[in-house]
Amino acid sequence: MADKNFRVLISQRRLEARIGQLGREISRDYRGRKPVLVGVLRGAFVFLADLLRNITVPAEVDFISVGSYGDAKVSSGVVRLLQDLNTNIRGRHVILVEDIVDTGVTLSYLTHNLRTRRPRSLEICTLLDKHEKRKVHVPLKYVGFRIPDKFVVGYGLDYAQQHRNIPYISWVRED
Ligand code: IMP
Repeated sequence: MADKNFRVLISQRRLEARIGQLGREISRDYRGRKPVLVGVLRGAFVFLADLLRNITVPAEVDFISVGSYGDAKVSSGVVRLLQDLNTNIRGRHVILVEDIVDTGVTLSYLTHNLRTRRPRSLEICTLLDKHEKRKVHVPLKYVGFRIPDKFVVGYGLDYAQQHRNIPYISWVRED
């Protein structure tokens, strides 16, 4: 992806190192348990795949899909469930795996939704935290990187469904 408009914010090397640490942390915290990793589609699938390979406890995987962004860079603020889990999470240890937390609206919706199903525990693991933009508080247990308020793509994150294949986190130069 040798486009001069794409700038490296977080390199592949840094992603790999940090995701290794997160995997070790989760493996330690969930020793003796079988957590269910719930990936938020579509953005989290790349992160979840790498995170899973760094987890040494027997983890299950499922996905949930929500929509809030459409194809724009600005959230509509409306979240709707597009595709539900196949797993019954009642009594399970659930780790919600997200690509990026911006306003917090999506995760707030998801945590409220999943809590009604009575999981034994529910924690959030996000690769990126755009903390300056937070409108709704959501407790983040595992955070890969805190990033400034820039629109980023790559490593699963898109702009208008494009650029998910860039292997690093990139920001788009807008000049
Ligand atoms: P929130 O509801 O405002 O926290 O937004 C979370 C969702 O918005 C994420 O799951 C992403 O799909 C999307 N999003 C927020 N910021 C970015 C970004 O910089 N690049 C790509 N997607 C983003």
